[in-house]
Amino acid sequence: MSKVDDLRREIRRHEYLYYVLDQPEITDSAYDALLRELQALERADPSLITPDSPTQRVGGAPREGFVKLPHSSPMLSLDNALNEGELRAFDQRVRDLLGNEPFRYVAELKLDGLSMAVQYREQALQLALTRGDGSEGEDVTANARTIRSLPLRVNGERAGFEVRGEVVMPNAAFQKLNAEREQEGLARYANPRNSSAGSLRVLDPGITASRQLDFYAYFLLADGQPARASHWEALEELAAMGFKVNPARAVCDDVEALVAFCRRYEAERESLPYEIDGVVAKVDAVEQQRRLGWTAKFPRWAIAFKYAARQAETVVEKIDVQVGRTGARSTLHNEDEIARLGVAAGDTVLVERSGDVIPKVVKVVREGEVRVPFQMPAACPVCGSSVSRPEGEVVSRCLNSSCPARLKESVAHFAARAVLDIGGLGDVLVEQLVNAGLVHSVADLYDLTLEQLAGLERMGTKSAERVLAGIARSKTLPLPRVLNGLGIPFVGERTAQLLAEHFGSLDALREADEAQLQQATEVGPKVAQSIRRWFAEERNRAVVERLRGAGLTFTHQKVDRSGGVLAGLTFVLTGTLPSLSREQAKEMIEAAGGKVSGSVSKKTSYVVAGEEAGSKLEKAQELGIRVLTEAELREMLGKLEA
Ligand code: IVH
Repeated sequence: MSKVDDLRREIRRHEYLYYVLDQPEITDSAYDALLRELQALERADPSLITPDSPTQRVGGAPREGFVKLPHSSPMLSLDNALNEGELRAFDQRVRDLLGNEPFRYVAELKLDGLSMAVQYREQALQLALTRGDGSEGEDVTANARTIRSLPLRVNGERAGFEVRGEVVMPNAAFQKLNAEREQEGLARYANPRNSSAGSLRVLDPGITASRQLDFYAYFLLADGQPARASHWEALEELAAMGFKVNPARAVCDDVEALVAFCRRYEAERESLPYEIDGVVAKVDAVEQQRRLGWTAKFPRWAIAFKYAARQAETVVEKIDVQVGRTGARSTLHNEDEIARLGVAAGDTVLVERSGDVIPKVVKVVREGEVRVPFQMPAACPVCGSSVSRPEGEVVSRCLNSSCPARLKESVAHFAARAVLDIGGLGDVLVEQLVNAGLVHSVADLYDLTLEQLAGLERMGTKSAERVLAGIARSKTLPLPRVLNGLGIPFVGERTAQLLAEHFGSLDALREADEAQLQQATEVGPKVAQSIRRWFAEERNRAVVERLRGAGLTFTHQKVDRSGGVLAGLTFVLTGTLPSLSREQAKEMIEAAGGKVSGSVSKKTSYVVAGEEAGSKLEKAQELGIRVLTEAELREMLGKLEA
């Protein structure tokens, strides 16, 4: 099957150029086309799929927990040098212990992420473990596979090896994630390290995949021991195998060179695309490392020179409450965080910048003489309606969906390019329209006249015409856009698309109960409940009716699978299937009109079981439900198709 092999090789090369070297040779769409071509070939003959195929990054279905597994050798951490003096003292100890024989250091940046160990067999990624307690880590293989700079297959001949390195979230991805979280009413991550950890340790690999994590390799081990005689050589080999190895590294012949390296990157710290908290210095020769040995906790052959955290003291003047689109309030933090810090207006606090543009309050340094303790207002500061904090959430919500603050945010969201794409209707105009009382809901946009618009300050007839043209055009946009535009909490671009495909019309969606909603792909209880609640509100239903009256798209080409060969049958998947991931098996079943459910009941038609199937298999046997292997499932799909 050399066509498939050629495609994979080609795709791997472009992934390497893009994600590791940051030097793409082809456009994103040309890359997508290659990937799609491979997907089509694999779909036509699923027996061609191999776990190291570039199509197999996001595979595993959400899991129930992580399995703990032992490391090949302990993953320890480093002793710190908090200033130049301590770094020089470390160097002195090394020189003394080596009896003044010549040696050199390798200096690398200390990336602020979390360490991970990844095992390869026959050039293919097998297992990824977090550091855990150092002797045992958590199996995060499915999530690690979604990190694009971590190769699923490597170059070279090395049969079995382990690479250790740092998982990081680049600042750009971190800021984007925090902005999204704020929009959704979730707490911001304090720093990229927390968000890398949070992203790697989620149960759903699809989430990890969306988080744009990066992996930088810094150790190459064979049988738990350094694979090369020198650390520098190991780094070079890692780079040759296709791993991302930080180019900011150097061989240092003495402590002066080391100090210079530390100073240089301290100055460049701000311009790096990721967070660093220092420099790591390692004695290069493994034989010398062996002689230097370890203390109970740390290697004597390496040190972490730590930079000072970027902190400053400041006085809290006032704790403000802001109201966002979904009615979520957040300032620097949320109510719980304010309570945890015990901060009040008037206090002097320590603030720290880490990866984010918004500084984080670390702690109260001194209480103010005059203190105004924070209290979440019972009424929305903008509209005066009552505020409530749903159980399990960290934010309070203004319950009035036409609250001017919420209204402005929701109109701006409605008009955004990726939503109903109303050109010219930006934040400023939205503000004017709401303040002038011309817009009380998104539906009012469709009643605006040229006169009204042109009458606003700084609006000429030309701009007003442009806005009206955009509003008119929005009526031709497909249902997923409209659905996204409604601003139902937890229904963003992707969910809107899936809902539209499943239900085929806004009316069908509106009528669906929670159980029916959960039949749609990727819709769980939380999303289903949110949709039900939204449609339960009279005000929202009225807006929907007016949008219908205005002529927006309310129907969608339903992806109808009722004629499929598995129509009417319900499947439950359990255990690890030999070649298909759960998501793939689910897709195949759904494409043939079948349903996939999470639990076994009398309504289950078949249970498809793989290796290590557990309680679901037992339950199936108990209820006398037929159990299929993957091969039998394939046969069923094949036979019935014929
Ligand atoms: S070497 C025994 N090299 O910093 C050697 N660590 O305490 C252990 N880190 O847990 C690590 N960049 O998470 C090493 N270039 C680098 C590093 C690095 C970041 C982290 C790692 C480790 C901690 C050191």
